[in-house]
Amino acid sequence: MAILAINQGPPVRTAPFAAWPVFDAAEEAALLKVLRGGKWWRFAFGQGVELSEPEQGEQSEVVLFQKEFAGYHECRYGVAAANGTGTLEIGIRALDFAIGDEIIIPAYTYVACATCVLQNNLVPIFVDVEADTYNLDPARIEEAITPRTRAIMVVHFGGQVADMDRILAIAAKHRLAVIEDAAHAHGCAWKGKKAGSFGLFSSFSFQASKNMTSGEGGILCTNDQALAVECDSLLWAGRRVGRPWYEFHRLGWNYRMTEFQAAILRCQLRRLDEQIECRARNAAYLTEQLQRIEGLRPLVADARCTRHGYHIYIFRYDEARLGLKRERFLKALAAEGIPAFSGYTFPLYKNPMFLEKKFINGAFPLGSAYHADLDYRKFAALCPVAERAAASEALWLPQNVLLGPRSDMDDIVAAIQKVLEHKNEIP
Ligand SMILES: Cc1ncc(COP(=O)(O)O)c(C=O)c1O
Repeated sequence: MAILAINQGPPVRTAPFAAWPVFDAAEEAALLKVLRGGKWWRFAFGQGVELSEPEQGEQSEVVLFQKEFAGYHECRYGVAAANGTGTLEIGIRALDFAIGDEIIIPAYTYVACATCVLQNNLVPIFVDVEADTYNLDPARIEEAITPRTRAIMVVHFGGQVADMDRILAIAAKHRLAVIEDAAHAHGCAWKGKKAGSFGLFSSFSFQASKNMTSGEGGILCTNDQALAVECDSLLWAGRRVGRPWYEFHRLGWNYRMTEFQAAILRCQLRRLDEQIECRARNAAYLTEQLQRIEGLRPLVADARCTRHGYHIYIFRYDEARLGLKRERFLKALAAEGIPAFSGYTFPLYKNPMFLEKKFINGAFPLGSAYHADLDYRKFAALCPVAERAAASEALWLPQNVLLGPRSDMDDIVAAIQKVLEHKNEIP
């Protein structure tokens, strides 16, 4: 009986997968430079030519990083921030929508996509994702558009770029803004054009698990100068370039990135291309192997996504066909040394926050009577793909497992095969 590791048999793998984060002497030197330089915060306020206090002979790491990262993503402006939740929030605030306006977001995503909407007294409206990519389903967007809809937020989920051809066309037809949550999509591309360069603005995250990280951090990218200047002001407490330091022009916040974060991120950006290629090679091989196993189907990599970041490697598990609950399968797989997990176990709208409408001051949406009757339970019937993905289908592998040698992929496949072959022995 002791074949499965969960039954005290020998595990397929005891060695750890590739470590994350990745750093070397470059990050160490960059951090020491900031440390010894004594300028630990971003000391130059504003965008490019509008810098408030350019210091001769010195340049802020944050300002340099903004230029480098935005330029790499085919955007003219970058606004670096404390995290990717903050960049989504200030980007939306800068658009000045009216109380109770609606923003379409995917049902299968991280909570920040909704909180950034609610923090602006706007209403998130959930739309289902595609069965093959788990990205916002263009075929389901139009039915969710109302006279109050102002924007469509796409999330390039797991590093696969959403169908920008169809989404941009729908947005243009209905005169809606497109917001790209590119928290998973550093360096990714759709038909050769970088993710983050399609929408009115995009938002990236540098939180610890992300494909580029400084522990925490975020950046907003845009080609709209006025928007960039406004966002800069919003994360500097509402200050304006060229105006007195203690003069505040609108409700802002402190979402500034530190010089330490930017120093690390400038190094991480230089590693990005090589890491993307490594993940893509391993992901292609893993997909080839996993699709041969009955009951497993990796998400489909759309050929128009010419650069997939594989922030999460996702494959689909057919619980009914395999006759084994996903959670029991995962437990046995973990014992074999494979760090797969189920990700979200219910779609975003099923969080207590939505079911109980625990929003700002308990009201929803602040000052707007129109949505008083909106019951987020209704989205369960509208989002069958997100429901299934969360409840039983999705399996996630974190990006760092794709940064090792090909033999690591063989271990993943061998462990899965072993668990499925011996599924009747799982206690
Ligand atoms: C899809 C998505 N959007 C936004 C965020 C928010 O980023 P941050 O953690 O930097 O606030 C995350 C982070 O996990 C995310 O996964």
